[in-house]
Amino acid sequence: MHLVPSLFAPEMLAGGTAVVIDVLRASTTICHALHAGADRVVPCGTVEHARETAARLKAEGEPALLAGERGCVIVEGFDLGNTPTDFHPESVGGRPVVLTTTNGTAALLRCLEAEEVLVGSFANLSAICAHLSADGNDERPVHFVCAGTDRNVTLEDALFAGRAANRLLAAGVGTIAHHDGDPTRLATAFAEAHPDTAAALADSRGGRNLARLGRGEDIAVCAAADSAPVVPRLTGDELRPVS
Ligand code: MLT
Repeated sequence: MHLVPSLFAPEMLAGGTAVVIDVLRASTTICHALHAGADRVVPCGTVEHARETAARLKAEGEPALLAGERGCVIVEGFDLGNTPTDFHPESVGGRPVVLTTTNGTAALLRCLEAEEVLVGSFANLSAICAHLSADGNDERPVHFVCAGTDRNVTLEDALFAGRAANRLLAAGVGTIAHHDGDPTRLATAFAEAHPDTAAALADSRGGRNLARLGRGEDIAVCAAADSAPVVPRLTGDELRPVS
């Protein structure tokens, strides 16, 4: 359990599974995009890299979309921002989505030394827990990697990490890295104390920030369990659903 990416050295993930979490909103958006039929999601660390990647894909004849935010606001000239419900079959179906976000895609790119890199959100809670506990996957240590915000711990990411860890622990499946460490104990206790996901997200700093920016309706979307039941997995520099 890593409550912010700066708390682990990338090599600590070697041989394990990283579940990257940015509930508000990047990891929810990635699940929605792939569930809506996007061909793949290509995470990029910077706006410049995203523009270059989309331009290259278009030059190769692919109908790439540019998506992402800075300060929770769509980047100028991009096709889409980071609102999960904007990623629907009509907008993204069959198309590659090149995505850059402030914290979420940066957290993903810090996990490249893991054996397997997945994306977790309430939108795929049951699907990802089933994947992590499936035969063959259940022996690899699972690192829940919370993206946080600007190097700070965020309530919503810890809540998801704790909820997913509690499911695995209750079922007696999966191997959570540092399962008896204080971050895991904090996250699991916090999740037990806050069963109402939407209320907790609305009361978080990130939730209040989204409401202030007029994106309050995204909070309920990001809190909804199992609304986009895919398991995004990073292969090379592309996220696709585990089949
Ligand atoms: C991020 O990556 O920092 C977030 O997803 C920001 C947002 O909600 O747009």
